[in-house]
Amino acid sequence: MRAITYQEYGTADVLSWTELDRPEPRAGEVLVRVHAASINQADLFTLHGVPRVARLAFGLRRPRSTVLGRAFAGTVTAVGERVGDLRAGDDVFGELAAGCFAEYVAAPAAGLARKPGAVTFEQAATLPVAATTALQAVRLAGAGPGRTLLVNGASGGVGTFTVQLARVLGARVTGVCSARNADLVRSIGAERVVDYAREDVTRGPDRFDAVIDLAGGHPLSAMRRILTPEGVYVASTGNGGPVLGPMPRVLAVLATAPFVRPRLRNLVAKASAADLAEVAELVARGAVTPAIEATHPLSTAADVIRRLEQDHARGKIVLSP
Ligand SMILES: NC(=O)c1ccc[n+]([C@@H]2O[C@H](COP(=O)([O-])OP(=O)(O)OC[C@H]3O[C@@H](n4cnc5c(N)ncnc54)[C@H](OP(=O)(O)O)[C@@H]3O)[C@@H](O)[C@H]2O)c1
Repeated sequence: MRAITYQEYGTADVLSWTELDRPEPRAGEVLVRVHAASINQADLFTLHGVPRVARLAFGLRRPRSTVLGRAFAGTVTAVGERVGDLRAGDDVFGELAAGCFAEYVAAPAAGLARKPGAVTFEQAATLPVAATTALQAVRLAGAGPGRTLLVNGASGGVGTFTVQLARVLGARVTGVCSARNADLVRSIGAERVVDYAREDVTRGPDRFDAVIDLAGGHPLSAMRRILTPEGVYVASTGNGGPVLGPMPRVLAVLATAPFVRPRLRNLVAKASAADLAEVAELVARGAVTPAIEATHPLSTAADVIRRLEQDHARGKIVLSP
């Protein structure tokens, strides 16, 4: 089989389209023929080995897993020992720490969800990581009928799901993004869109019941200022410096939260088959539509990622073997 591999940390230039042995499913795993995979910020972090502190997990000197890719959808072709009810021919989707930008991937069966027939493989591949993070973020934010919610970073992979899920729950959403993506964010349900290049939302008169921060960039004190007294700030950004990444903000939230109102929360999204099933059901009944900018051949992943190293995607980008 062929896969997108890398042997050292670096830019997209270190990626290659390589011939590898097809993996064998171990106990508890299934072998999936990948029909679609999606790119997440986390793939760029593992490729670049940034923030450096994350190399403790990815591999200190070089990447421990040499095939890139977390989120995928495909068809089970073989089943390892002690796998519950999945069989060859079942359509599934899910995530792993790395390894799915490939024609086949061996994945723990327990973390996978069944793909509903009404959801395409491309759509299903956008749900792990991005939509499940968004679902966990709107829960933590207490999004509900009539509550006002600011999504900072509304046009990206996580943001486009966050806006839609908050709307499904009845919240009134303001989205922050660049001018070029304002129409997209309005079209998926934001009542108001703020262009971060022209307006600093933390200096405006509006107060929100919750802020979901997918971009960072503003000090915590500025974010607290735009919340109602009972409001909640959800830090869900992986951005930060090259060494510690989001750690300073995560620690600042932990250290400050017990002593202040409005409330401050860190979101560390967890892979969950139940959450995958929940978002897929919303897509199947048309309540949420993944915002897919484009689908590209998997073999061209290096070129696609090179472009993403310069600029953000509008919603999600899908790769297809
Ligand atoms: N907490 C967790 O467990 C978890 C899980 C997954 C992801 N994340 C993090 O969530 C963040 C978003 O991920 P993603 O996949 O959605 O990234 P993405 O697709 O690259 O989207 C980035 C978003 O940020 C916006 N943005 C850029 N600069 C901004 C600024 N100065 N002010 C406001 N918005 C700005 C972009 O808008 P334009 O494109 O319109 O410029 C875009 O909407 C990342 O930091 C990622 O690491 C966290």
